[in-house]
Amino acid sequence: MNIGVLASGNGSNLQALIDAAGGGRLPASIRLVLADNPAARALERARAAGIPARFIAPGTTRPRLAPAVEDEYVRALRAAGIELVCLAGFMRIIGDRLLRAFPGRIINIHPSLLPAFPGLAAWQQALDYGVKVTGCTVHFVNRGIDTGPIILQATAPVRDDDTPATLLARIQRREHRLYPLAVRLIAEKRLAVTGRRVIAGGGPKNG
Ligand code: GRF
Repeated sequence: MNIGVLASGNGSNLQALIDAAGGGRLPASIRLVLADNPAARALERARAAGIPARFIAPGTTRPRLAPAVEDEYVRALRAAGIELVCLAGFMRIIGDRLLRAFPGRIINIHPSLLPAFPGLAAWQQALDYGVKVTGCTVHFVNRGIDTGPIILQATAPVRDDDTPATLLARIQRREHRLYPLAVRLIAEKRLAVTGRRVIAGGGPKNG
């Protein structure tokens, strides 16, 4: 399965996918990395791994890509033969053009146990709210913000002495295991999606 990754920043989740694919733990290959930020470290990580990586300027319609720009993302992904699009810290709301081009084929990782704390700085939201357990979620992307069907979740405790940085680091350690696992389930066609419910079966399934 050919994977395209969209990122805006550090790219530690991209790195986890690169490492999993390189280590033979993913029956998939990362064929393209696109970023809306020219300074994204994700671009460097991709190039260091020999993966084509491009900055495509996002336009001025934050938090969305401009429609013409979204078309350009679609063209680039299609030209690379991408079958699954993984958002990895891509700080843009995905619009209809990308959703229509890759129906049920765009996934995201989010640093909370959705539906708690969607949107920005979810680890800070968890600290502010005072929850004792948070975590991370891999989900399909739909038109909402962090609202698509949930594929996998992992929990992380919130400790009394946590700072935003220590909590985020604990969540991200879980993310780096969870994202490759979710991609693997999709690559092995082991997911059955019924409405909002995503069931991971034992063996290969159609779709
Ligand atoms: C991750 O915490 C992810 O959950 C969120 O953005 C962050 C990206 O981190 N969507 P990185 O760029 O993968 O290091």
